[in-house]
Amino acid sequence: MNYENLLYERNDGLVRITINRPEKLNALNRETVSEIGAALTAFEADDQARALILTGSGSRAFVAGADIAELAEQSPRAAQEYALFGQGVLTRLERCRKATIAAVNGFALGGGLELAMACQIRVAAEDAYLGLPEVTLGLIPGFGGTQRLPRLVGRGKALEMIMTGDRIDAREALRIGLVNRVVPADQLLGICEKMARTIASRGPVAVQFAIEAVNRGLDVPVEEGMFIEAGLFGIVAATEDMLEGTQAFLEKRKAEFKGR
Ligand code: COA
Repeated sequence: MNYENLLYERNDGLVRITINRPEKLNALNRETVSEIGAALTAFEADDQARALILTGSGSRAFVAGADIAELAEQSPRAAQEYALFGQGVLTRLERCRKATIAAVNGFALGGGLELAMACQIRVAAEDAYLGLPEVTLGLIPGFGGTQRLPRLVGRGKALEMIMTGDRIDAREALRIGLVNRVVPADQLLGICEKMARTIASRGPVAVQFAIEAVNRGLDVPVEEGMFIEAGLFGIVAATEDMLEGTQAFLEKRKAEFKGR
C-alpha cells in the first residue's frame, strides 16, 4: 500500500511507521490518522511482523498535535465525529496484540502525545517535549488524552498538564512515569529496535497473552483481572512454545519459538 503521509518499512520482523509531514512537524490531519489505521491493519495482518516502532520524521517532532488548520474549520458535529474516529484508531493501537513502541523524537503534543500514550512503551529522546496544549487553543484533548494520561501518571499530574496546557521535558516525563526511558537522540531508534527485538525473540503467544492480561485486567475489578490472567495462563500452558521454552531451559539451550 502507498501512503501519502507515512513511511511503512518492515525489516526482519520489525515494522517502523514514520509519520512523515516534517514541514508541519508531523501534525495529524484526518488523512494521516486514517493512514495510521490502515498501517496498523497491515501490521496486524502480517504474520512475519512481530513488533512496531512508531516515530516522527525529522529531528524536531514526533507529532506536534492534531492539524490545527483542520480543527479551526470544524462544526461541532464534525469535531465530535473526528474525535470518535481518532479515538477508534488509537484504541485499536492500544489493543494491538503485538509489541508497540513509541520512539518520541521531539515534540509530542496534543494528538502526538495521545498517539504515544496508545503505544505500550514510550522511549523519549533527551530533547523531547510532551504535553496536551489543547486548552491553549480553547479545546480539550479529543483522542483519548483525558482518559489515558490520568491512567498513566495519576489524576493530579494529568489534570495539571491538561489544565495548564504546559509541556514538560523528557526528564520530567520519565520522573512522572509518562515515558519508560530517556535516551540520547542519536541512539533513540537503535535502543527502541533493541527493545523490540528482545520482545520479538520471546514466545509470541506468551507476549500476546501478557498484553491482553494487562489491558483487559486494567478495565475490570482486580478479581476479574486475576481470573482473566489465570485463564490465559491455562491456555498458554498448552502451547508448543511453552513446551519448547521450558525444555530449552532444562537443556541449557536457546529456545526456538514458533508462535504456536
Ligand atoms: N497543526 C498544524 N500545523 C502545525 C502544527 C499543528 N499542530 N504544529 C506545527 N505546525 C506547523 C506550523 O504551522 C508551521 O507551519 P508553516 O511553516 O507553514 O507556518 C510548521 O509546522 C513549523 O512549526 P512552527 O510553529 O513554525 O515551529 P516552532 O519551532 O516555532 O514551534 C511548536 C514548534 C511545536 C512549539 C509549535 O509548532 C506549536 O506550538 N505547535 C502546535 C502544538 C499544539 O498546540 N498541538 C495541539 C493541537 S490540538
